[in-house]
Amino acid sequence: MRMVDLIHKKRSGEALNEQEIQYIVSGYTQGDIPDYQMSALLMAIFFNGMTSEETSILTLAMAGSGEMIDLSAIAGVKVDKHSTGGVGDKISLIVGPIVAYLGIPVAKMSGRGLGHTGGTVDKLESIPGFQIELTKEAFIEAVNTNKIAIVGQSGNLAPADKKIYALRDVTATVESIPLIASSIMSKKIASGADAIVLDVKIGSGAFMKTVNDARVLARTMVDIGKSLNRNTIAMITDMEQPLGREIGNANEIRESIEVLRGTGDKELTAVAISVAAYMSVLGKAFNTFEEAQEAITDIVTNGKALETFKRFVANQGGDPGVVDRPELLPTAAYHFEVVASKDGYVSQIDAEQIGIAAMLLGAGRAKKEDQIDYAVGLTLNKKIGDAVKHGDSICTLHANREDVKEVETMIREAYRIDSEKPAAVQLIYDVIL
Ligand code: URA
Repeated sequence: MRMVDLIHKKRSGEALNEQEIQYIVSGYTQGDIPDYQMSALLMAIFFNGMTSEETSILTLAMAGSGEMIDLSAIAGVKVDKHSTGGVGDKISLIVGPIVAYLGIPVAKMSGRGLGHTGGTVDKLESIPGFQIELTKEAFIEAVNTNKIAIVGQSGNLAPADKKIYALRDVTATVESIPLIASSIMSKKIASGADAIVLDVKIGSGAFMKTVNDARVLARTMVDIGKSLNRNTIAMITDMEQPLGREIGNANEIRESIEVLRGTGDKELTAVAISVAAYMSVLGKAFNTFEEAQEAITDIVTNGKALETFKRFVANQGGDPGVVDRPELLPTAAYHFEVVASKDGYVSQIDAEQIGIAAMLLGAGRAKKEDQIDYAVGLTLNKKIGDAVKHGDSICTLHANREDVKEVETMIREAYRIDSEKPAAVQLIYDVIL
C-alpha cells in the first residue's frame, strides 16, 4: 500500500476501507508516514468528509493505537460522560457522586484544562491532598468499593489521536466533524466505557457555535458509539454563558459541593440532574429518563450524595473536611468587584472571554507547561436575565495579585447590559439517542 494512493483516493471522494485506515493510523503513529502526507490526507478528509463506516473504523484504529483499559473486573455497566468543553463546566464533579450513590460504577479518566476551558483533574487537585494518579489495581479497587474513582488520563491512551490532533491544530483541519467525533470517541472507547453520555456544548464558549453543527457532531458520535456496541446518548447544552456562577479550580469544587447539598445554582443543578439521569438510565438503575430525573432531584435536594463525595475524596487522599468547611480549600488573597456601568438586564456574557479572564488570573493554562493557581477565579454575581443597577457587583475576582486592571476590563467587556429583559436561556437544546 502507498500513502500517496490513499491520499488520491480520499481526494477523489472515495471511501477508505478498514485495511487502508489501519495502515494510515499505525503508519503515522509509528513515524513511517511523514507529517506532510498525513496533512494532505487530513485536508482531503476535511473537504470530502468520511462515511459513518470510515469514521467508526478510524475511531477503533485510534483507540487501539495504545493502551485499551480493561474495566471488566468492575461489576456493572461502566457509564462514562464526556463534555466537549466549556467555561465553568463542573458537571463531572457533581454527576460522579450522584451516579455512584445509585450504585452505578464511575471509573472515570479526566483531563487537564487548556486555554479558556478548565479540566476536572485540576479542579480535583485543588482539594488538599487529592491524588489523581492511582495504580490500575487501586483504581479498580476504589471503584469496586466506593463506586467512584476519577484519575488522570493514561499517557498512552489513543496515542494516534494525540499525534493527529497536534497535526490538525497546525494544518487548519480541527473543524471536521468526522475527525472531531473519532478523536473524542477513540479516547472514550480506549478508556473502557460500556456506555457514554456526551454533553455537546454550543455557544460563545464552545467549540460548536450553532445547534445544527452540534446536532451533526452529536449524531456522528452517537452512531460511532452504537456501531461499536457502546450505548451512547448525546445532549446538546448551552454554553452561551459560563455554566453556574463559579470559575476557577477551588471555586468550582465549592460550587459542586453546594449543588450536591441542594443549595446550588438552579441552572447548573438542572443540567447536572439531566446528565446524571441519562447516565443512570444507561447504567440500568432506571427504565426511563423521567423516573431517573425524579429520583435524582430528590437525591440532590436532600444532599444524599454528599457522603459519597466525601468517601471518594478521602479514598484518593483528599481532605473530605472541605465538604463541611469549604474554607479548607485554597482561597485567594485579594477580592475585587467589577460593577455594572448602568441599570438594565444582563443580556450577554461572553463565555470564552470570561474563561480567558480566569486563565489570566492564573486559574488556567495558556500553554501545557504553565502552573495554575487553584485559589484564583471568578464569581459571576449576575447571569443572563438578571436585573442590575448601576454600581451593583456583576462579578467578583479572586486574585493573588493586586494589579488586575486588564482582567477587570475583559470582564466588563464580556458582559452586555440592555434595557430590555432578554428571553430565558435554554439550557438543553436537544438530546440525540
Ligand atoms: N476534543 C477532542 O478530543 N478532539 C477534537 O478533535 C476536538 C475536541
